[in-house]
Amino acid sequence: MDNIQVIQVTPDLPNFNILVSSVHAIAKKLALPEGTVGDVRAQWEQAGFLVAAYTEEKYRELGKKGRLYAALLPDGTPGAFSVIYRPEHPADEGDLGTKFTKEQYGDVPVVKQIATDPDHKGHGLARILNDHFADQYPDLPVFAAIVEGPRNYRSEGFHAKIGFAKVVAYAHPDGKPRGIWRRPPLTERRALPENGGTEPRNDLK
Ligand SMILES: CC(C)(COP(=O)(O)OP(=O)(O)OC[C@H]1O[C@@H](n2cnc3c(N)ncnc32)[C@H](O)[C@@H]1OP(=O)(O)O)[C@@H](O)C(=O)NCCC(=O)NCCS
Repeated sequence: MDNIQVIQVTPDLPNFNILVSSVHAIAKKLALPEGTVGDVRAQWEQAGFLVAAYTEEKYRELGKKGRLYAALLPDGTPGAFSVIYRPEHPADEGDLGTKFTKEQYGDVPVVKQIATDPDHKGHGLARILNDHFADQYPDLPVFAAIVEGPRNYRSEGFHAKIGFAKVVAYAHPDGKPRGIWRRPPLTERRALPENGGTEPRNDLK
C-alpha cells in the first residue's frame, strides 16, 4: 500500500484523543471475547486475535509514555497500530513478558502488540510498522511475544513471513505461555543471500 505514514501517537498531537479512540476501536474488533469456546474460538484462532484488548484509557497511557505507534492510511486514519518498547524503555510494572525478554536479550525493541484493522489486512501495514523499527535500529534484533495458549496461527504465520523465528517459550504466570520470537537485525538480514527467502520488499532497500 502506498502513502502509509508511521507516526508515534503522542499527546502533543492535536488529534491525540481521536487517534487513541481509533486504535482502541481496532483492538476491540480483534480481542478474543472472554469465555469464547468451541467452533467460535477456533475461528478466532484462525483469524488472529489480541490476547487482551486494552481499555481506551490504557492506550492513552501508553501513548503518553511513548509506546504507541500507528500506520496512517492516506486519509489520516490509523489502519494498524503497535505498542512497542524501544530499547531504552524498561518493561512497565506487571508486564512480565517484556521484562523477561529484556532480561534475556538486553536493550532491544520489543513489540508488545501489533494489529491491523480487519478491513485493511493483507496490505502490508503490519510489515510497515515492523520495518519502521528495524530501520531505526538496524543493528538490533526485534522481539515479539506470541501467545501459545491457544496458538495464534495467523500471528505466527505473519511473523515467520517477515523473518521472525521463535527462540524460546516463556511460561507466563497468567497461564498463557508465550513464544518469544526474534527478527534478526536489518544489517544481518541484508547480508543473507536472497534474505533467506523471507524478506521480499522493504528490507531490500
Ligand atoms: C497478524 C497481523 C498483525 C498481520 O497484519 P497485516 O497488516 O494483515 O499483515 P501484512 O499485510 O503486513 O503482511 C506482511 C506479509 O506477511 C504475510 N502474512 C500475513 N499474515 C500471514 C499469515 N497468517 N501467514 C503467512 N503469511 C502472512 C502477508 O502475505 C505479507 O507477505 P508479503 O509481504 O510477501 O505480501 C493481523 O492479522 C492482525 O492484526 N491479527 C490480529 C492481532 C494479532 O494477532 N496480532 C499479533 C499478536 S499481538
